[in-house]
Amino acid sequence: MSKKIVVAIDGPAGAGKSTVARRLAQRLGFLYIDTGAMYRAVALWALRNGTDFDDVHRLEQLACAAQVSLENGGRRVLLNGEDVSSAIRTQEISDGASKVSTVAGVRRALVEKQRQMAAEQSVVMEGRDIGTIVFPNADIKVYLDASVAVRAERRLKELFSRGIETTREEVEKEIRERDERDRTRAASPLMQAPDAVYLDSSGLSIEEVEEAILKLIRERTANGKEFSR
Ligand code: DC
Repeated sequence: MSKKIVVAIDGPAGAGKSTVARRLAQRLGFLYIDTGAMYRAVALWALRNGTDFDDVHRLEQLACAAQVSLENGGRRVLLNGEDVSSAIRTQEISDGASKVSTVAGVRRALVEKQRQMAAEQSVVMEGRDIGTIVFPNADIKVYLDASVAVRAERRLKELFSRGIETTREEVEKEIRERDERDRTRAASPLMQAPDAVYLDSSGLSIEEVEEAILKLIRERTANGKEFSR
């Protein structure tokens, strides 16, 4: 029987999780799962059909019914068959996703989907609760962090590259608000799992972060390959 490997990467927004997780998955031939995209897709659906973010029952229904698929190495996100890859990356949806992700019923529904996605193959999954809730027995757990200033700088660059004009102050404010909400919510708050390796990416390049995690994976598995038991 072949053992499936789970690499769990958690951390705050802008720590570099998505870029690094996608590159690692590509390098190892694992499936990349961006769980934030799933919360974003539910927020988009709720906004489009006028669901109040306080209506927790309706939000849970939407999360249960949502068919979210991640294609093309996580670059394409489909919600009920529609390509929403760009629509879920707006500031409004960042804020909405942070709000819907506080709803316990929404989390239950999406965690279930995340576990199903990883049932068949080895994965690199990134989010806020992967090492703590979704896969507490993950083979490799990393908590990827960076200073608010560095995270704001990265976000600013990303927004400018997409033609979105904003200020550093605005981006820092948004990051601090999201951090606060993600860390203090009652349901699965963002936190480092006790057995996760803490990595601060502030002074590191993407390549350096990738190499550090790859080294961990190699140490703890048969060179990152699925192995027989
Ligand atoms: O990683 P991201 O910025 O795309 O995530 C969007 C929001 O979803 C973020 O504010 C926190 C939430 N989220 C979560 O609560 N749990 C996850 N596993 C992933 C994201």
